[in-house]
Amino acid sequence: MHEKKTIFYRAYNEAMKIRVDLSSSTKDSSYDILIGSGIVNAKAGDEIINVFNSAGLKNRAFVITSETVSGLYRSLLNGFLENAGIKPVVLSLPDGEGTKSLKYLSYIYDELIKNRFERGDFIIAFGGGVIGDLSGFAAATYLRGINFIQIPTTLLADVDSSVGGKTGIDHPGGKNLIGAFYQPRCVIIDVDFLDTLSERELKNGFAEVIKYGAVIDNEFFIYLENNYEKILSRHKDSLMHIIEKSCAIKADVVNKDEKEAGLRSVLNFGHSLGHAIETLYNYETVKHGEAIAIGMVFASMLSEDLGLCTGETAGRVKTLIKNSGLPVKVPDFSPEEYINAMKLDKKVKGKLIKFVLIKDIGSFVFKELDFEYLMKFLKKIKDRRLDNL
Ligand SMILES: NC(=O)c1ccc[n+]([C@@H]2O[C@H](COP(=O)([O-])OP(=O)(O)OC[C@H]3O[C@@H](n4cnc5c(N)ncnc54)[C@H](O)[C@@H]3O)[C@@H](O)[C@H]2O)c1
Ligand SMILES: [Zn+2]
Repeated sequence: MHEKKTIFYRAYNEAMKIRVDLSSSTKDSSYDILIGSGIVNAKAGDEIINVFNSAGLKNRAFVITSETVSGLYRSLLNGFLENAGIKPVVLSLPDGEGTKSLKYLSYIYDELIKNRFERGDFIIAFGGGVIGDLSGFAAATYLRGINFIQIPTTLLADVDSSVGGKTGIDHPGGKNLIGAFYQPRCVIIDVDFLDTLSERELKNGFAEVIKYGAVIDNEFFIYLENNYEKILSRHKDSLMHIIEKSCAIKADVVNKDEKEAGLRSVLNFGHSLGHAIETLYNYETVKHGEAIAIGMVFASMLSEDLGLCTGETAGRVKTLIKNSGLPVKVPDFSPEEYINAMKLDKKVKGKLIKFVLIKDIGSFVFKELDFEYLMKFLKKIKDRRLDNL
C-alpha cells in the first residue's frame, strides 16, 4: 500500500515548502504550500516561478479578492503576476461572510464566462477564508473543475482554510451547506500580508493554531505557551514557524483522511460548542476563532469532568487561550438553547453527539456524549461559573 506522508522541507532562500501528498487518492491531487516573508512581490523569485510552472500556471488567471485586500494589495499582486508572465483579470467582492453566497458565486460564473476562461486557465483566491472557500467552489464547479491557487491573506486562511480542500458557500439555512472537496494546485503564503490584519482577526486565526497544539502536538503547544506574545506582536520568524507547523499538522491529518471519514474530525476540537455559540449569535458579534476558543475550554472542562484528563491539562488549555486575549467564558445562553443549537451539528446521531476530547496536551479521544449529560454539565457550569478563571 502506498504510504501517505507529508514531505516537509526548507527550500530555496527564505521560503519553506510543504508537500501535501495526496498521491494515493483516486486522482493524484498532491500540491505544494510555499511559506515565506516578502515572497509575493513585483520581482517574483525563481522559487515562485518554479511552483507556478509545476502547478501548470502559465498564461492568465482570474483573481478573486475582497475589497479590503484589493485596496491594500491589488497593484502588488498585479505586478507579481505580470512579472511571472501571467495576465490577471481581477474581480473584487465585498468583505464579509455574506459574500460566501449563491449570489456572488453566480456573479463569478458570469464573469468567468464573459472573459472566456477555459479549462486550462486558473482561478486565484486572494484573501481570507471567505474568498478562499467561495473561489475554490467556483473552481471546483466551473467547466466541471478548473485549476485553482490559493494566496491567503489572513492567519485563519494561512493555517486552516487554505489547507485541506474544503470549499463551499453558505445557505440561508446554514453555514457551509453547499460545497465540494477540491484541492488547489498550490498555496502561496506570505506572512507580510498579516502586517495589515486587525488584532482581532489575528487572534481569530491563532485560536485554530492553539487547537493543533492542544490535541495533536504537545511540543508545539509548549512553543505556543512560551511564545504567544512574540507571535501576537507579529514577529515574522515566529509567525512563519507557527504557520509552517500548523500547515504540516493539518496536511498530515488530511493526507490520512481527506474526506473526513474519521481522523479528520479531530480538527473539530472546540467546534461542537463553538458552532452552537456562532449559531446562537446568528454568526454576528462573535468570530469563529473566538467561539471555538470558548469551545476548547468547554471541551477541556468536559474531559476533566469525565476523568479523561487532569485539571492541570484543562487549566493549561484555558490559560493559553486567556493569555492570548481570546474569550474563555461560555456566553450566557440557557443550557436548553445550547443543546438545541448543538442538535443541529453534523456529528449528531440520535441522542448522541461525537465530541473531540483531550487526554493529555497533544492527544485526543473521540467520545459520543448524550445530550442529557451535556445538559447537566451546562447547568453545572452555569450555576457555579466553573468557566471563570
Ligand atoms: N475551508 C476550510 O477548511 C475552512 C476552515 C476554516 C474556516 N473556513 C471559512 O473561512 C471563513 C473565515 O475566514 P477568515 O477568518 O479569513 O475571514 P474573512 O475571509 O472574512 O477575512 C476577514 C476580514 O479580513 C480582511 N482581510 C483579509 N486579509 C487582510 C489583510 N491582509 N489585511 C487586512 N485585512 C484583511 C477581509 O477582507 C475580511 O474583511 C469562514 O467562511 C469559514 O467558514 C473554511
Ligand atoms: Zn474552525
